[in-house]
Amino acid sequence: MTDDKRRNRAWYGKADRDGFIHRSWMKNQGFPDHVFDGRPVIGICNTWSELTPCNSGLRDLAEGVKRGVWEAGGFPVEFPVMSLGETQMKPTAMLFRNLLAMDVEESIRAYGIDGVVLLGGCDKTTPGQLMGAASVDLPTIVVSSGPMLNGKWQGKDIGSGTDVWKFSEAVRAGEMTLQDFMAAESGMSRSKGVCMTMGTASTMASVVEAMGLSLPTNAALPAVDSRRMALAHMTGKRIVEMVEEELKLSDVVSRESFENAILANAAVGGSTNAVVHLLAIAGRVGIDLSLDDFELGSEVPLLVNCMPSGQYLMEDFCYAGGMPVVLKELGEMLRPARTVLGGDIGVYADGAECWNEDVIRPMSNPLKPAAGLRVLRGNLAPQGAIIKPSAATESLLEHEAEAYVFESIEEFKANIDREDLPVTKDTILVLKGCGPKGYPGMPEVGNMPIPARLVKEGVRDMVRLSDARMSGTAYGTVVLHISPEAQAGGTLALVKTGDRIRLSASEGALELLVDEAELETRRAAWAPDPAHYTRGYAKMYVDHVLQADQGADLDFLVGKDTRPVTRESH
Ligand code: FES
Ligand code: MG
Repeated sequence: MTDDKRRNRAWYGKADRDGFIHRSWMKNQGFPDHVFDGRPVIGICNTWSELTPCNSGLRDLAEGVKRGVWEAGGFPVEFPVMSLGETQMKPTAMLFRNLLAMDVEESIRAYGIDGVVLLGGCDKTTPGQLMGAASVDLPTIVVSSGPMLNGKWQGKDIGSGTDVWKFSEAVRAGEMTLQDFMAAESGMSRSKGVCMTMGTASTMASVVEAMGLSLPTNAALPAVDSRRMALAHMTGKRIVEMVEEELKLSDVVSRESFENAILANAAVGGSTNAVVHLLAIAGRVGIDLSLDDFELGSEVPLLVNCMPSGQYLMEDFCYAGGMPVVLKELGEMLRPARTVLGGDIGVYADGAECWNEDVIRPMSNPLKPAAGLRVLRGNLAPQGAIIKPSAATESLLEHEAEAYVFESIEEFKANIDREDLPVTKDTILVLKGCGPKGYPGMPEVGNMPIPARLVKEGVRDMVRLSDARMSGTAYGTVVLHISPEAQAGGTLALVKTGDRIRLSASEGALELLVDEAELETRRAAWAPDPAHYTRGYAKMYVDHVLQADQGADLDFLVGKDTRPVTRESH
């Protein structure tokens, strides 16, 4: 079955010294001659790590993929790339998403593989892997970790992240003991897998499925469900066929598939983080996607009743039918778009049936009539900001009030619980210095805790705004991703305590009600904070990172390079 067009032939198909070197060293693992006969070599790009607990099941799934690759006559080779443990890395895993993307891109390019299966799960791993893979553009399929089993504690279901934010506010309000709080830890995370709320990990897996970049049902099958292992096996079979069909990543993704991603993100009540990730992936593929395109989702009803926008968890979503049901409900709204199966995305909904209409609502009875993210603009966010109305308090979505400003996260943490903090439930809390360059890495601190004094009075939501992101599991009336960020000299840097700010989600407006002359005076007196990182990757990141409205990729990583590598290693 030798096919000399195949990429791997430039490594394993040579009857010379170079071919000897490429084959002989691989043979030290016990591979016989015939696996180098030209059959598709499939890279299994694995973000498994014990420091990324959400991805700790990926070694098992890699075995499933290998079974499928062997069965279809391919040659599977698993390789590790940097893993990003959202809950373990400081200052934030997002700082390293682009580093993972570089690792993935260069690994795929440098090795003699013909197609690649991306094994990821935890928030930044899926986008980082897709960004890197898109810049090389081989046949590519995603297999996700899958969600943890539902959290269980004191007879109730509890959700990753979402209930952490709820419980910690309850402790601060004196409504929950610290002992109970700590006891909930073990019940929350009781199996392998990603957060079982519709956080960023499950959002990205849902969006990837809606883009036809995984096999159907990939998003929701629990990590420990044996059907996920079967899906990995089927993915292994399919990637071999994709190599034979020369169906590259760029043949699957299109402007239409990104639009489907935006529609799906709205319908599932997905994470705000999907915005920066989809923008960054589009930048790699060369598809002109902008922040305004996300408005497409603003009229889509919220169908999936999962935390943080609803009440259920990913296990329930799976048993109700998962993404195929959502795609079926989106029906006519979906754009025609190709998938890794070669046909149209509509095929993913074939035979889908909803088994619980409270978990996945029909279009005729949505959880909320309009669920998508709103893009905000105005003098406070000339390049845009976003808000997630489905996770916000309705009455706060139109709000004008005085600002109380925290210049940094340290200032915020040192003062937020002060009894004499001069704020009311109507004050708009403003946090600076948490954008891509500022923190650096644009961490998930945008859903800043409510001042302790107000929490004790029963206040659970306030308008908060920043250049940060927030966890996909978080909720509240939180304006995020303000661009340009404060550290890049955005208007946000000029806001002072006492200034009035107007937020209108319905109009998509975010205005700092200070006259232009005064802002000019403040701008003239402003200087960025001194550089905190002066060497290494973090310096490169700060020097080259794009703003949130462009996906926060590094400027020199946008686009792709699909040229063959011609020079040999020896
Ligand atoms: Fe890894 Fe939520 S922290 S998926
Ligand atoms: Mg996260």
